[in-house]
Amino acid sequence: MRRALLIVALLSSVAGLAVAAPSPTAPRAPDPAVDRGHQLATRRCAQCHAVRPGRESPDGDAPQFSSLRLRFNEISLQRRLAAIPWSRHAGMPPVGLSDADRSDLAAYIESLGSPRG
Ligand code: HEC
Repeated sequence: MRRALLIVALLSSVAGLAVAAPSPTAPRAPDPAVDRGHQLATRRCAQCHAVRPGRESPDGDAPQFSSLRLRFNEISLQRRLAAIPWSRHAGMPPVGLSDADRSDLAAYIESLGSPRG
């Protein structure tokens, strides 16, 4: 009897894990931070960076946002964005990004597919 209970408990915890693990092919739930990040990127970054996958950057030196996604994770990207106003950023005017702006941009960039779109 105790053994049967143990097996049930084990099975349900395995099932719980399977449900919790995000499937790479599942469509993402709409995330308002991703939308805000996209709008911000279009307004403030798109004159130099390709902000959508599968495009070339208008400024050839500016990395495509989809390639940033491969180089940074959401946390390191936010740190990098925080450092930009004080570091050299190729002719880019100091960007006054709030913490919320940075986290929205990072959410958007993390949501992008590979550089080839
Ligand atoms: C005036 C053009 C210009 C604008 C506008 C611009 N960037 Fe850039 N950005 C560049 C160029 C050129 C590079 C590559 C050279 C460099 O890193 O200095 C770059 C590099 C970067 C990098 C990579 C830094 C690294 O460590 O490699 C990040 C992240 C970035 N930009 C984010 C942004 C974001 C977010 C915005 C909008 C808020 C933005 N940029 C707007 C020109 C621009």
